[in-house]
Amino acid sequence: MSEFRLTQISDTHLARRHKSLIDNFEKISAHIDATRPDLVVNSGDIAFDAPTNADDLAFAHTLHQTLPVPWRALPGNHDIGDNPTAVGPAPAQAVSEPARHAFLAAFGEDRWSFEAAGWRFLGLNSLVMNSGLASEAEQFDWLGQQLALTTGRPVALFLHKPLFLNEPGDPEVPETAIRYVPQPARQRLIEMLAAVDLRLIASGHVHQRRDFTYRSVRHIWAPSAGFVISDARQERIGIKEAGLVEYRFRPDSFEVRHLRAPGQTDVDLDTLLK
Ligand SMILES: [Fe+2]
Ligand SMILES: [Fe+2]
Repeated sequence: MSEFRLTQISDTHLARRHKSLIDNFEKISAHIDATRPDLVVNSGDIAFDAPTNADDLAFAHTLHQTLPVPWRALPGNHDIGDNPTAVGPAPAQAVSEPARHAFLAAFGEDRWSFEAAGWRFLGLNSLVMNSGLASEAEQFDWLGQQLALTTGRPVALFLHKPLFLNEPGDPEVPETAIRYVPQPARQRLIEMLAAVDLRLIASGHVHQRRDFTYRSVRHIWAPSAGFVISDARQERIGIKEAGLVEYRFRPDSFEVRHLRAPGQTDVDLDTLLK
């Protein structure tokens, strides 16, 4: 296959009780049906909030099963709980092995690796990082094995949380530590990735669209497929809109397209919390 088309969706936050988010998923699904990528990746926060409503995960899975093309998923903090950080308060719902296993039971995997169009694609569970859970060490061991298999191919990494705001060494501060892969796991991940030809890091989580390059690695923040967060609740870094990202990978190159599915609306989180 000389070209591989991948559509990234993220932060769908699906739940039976949130019709507006189901509507946005259906608009995305129709767009996917029209464009027929080779693969859809949901980069996490698939469920509205599984730690408090276990049914959200099962419901979200049911909707994904209706997608007309192959798809893969990665967990978000609203699917399996959040990372502990060194500087921020303990998360209200901390990631746990039982929560991770509930995700595995529904979605089958929380990390993956495959090759297409001359690229190595990696998906990681970013929520176990810095957790001290057994699966954190297992994942790093697995990642080391996968990186050893890349043999010079360009690498695209998908995970829920961005690695950092602007630079790997950005200091962690309590207000935003929860937004990025926490230290010291971030540094370990960066050091491991230095051994391969990393070209792309694609994340979600922030509910803002962003596209920047740091030292030859392109960082794509996919917007939420479902809702935006007001400036009153969250600082503005990139573009606040509901949407998705399309990629075209060819041997040794790739293209990124930022777009919204026809009919997709900017649902405001405030309307969901009433
Ligand atoms: Fe989210
Ligand atoms: Fe998230």
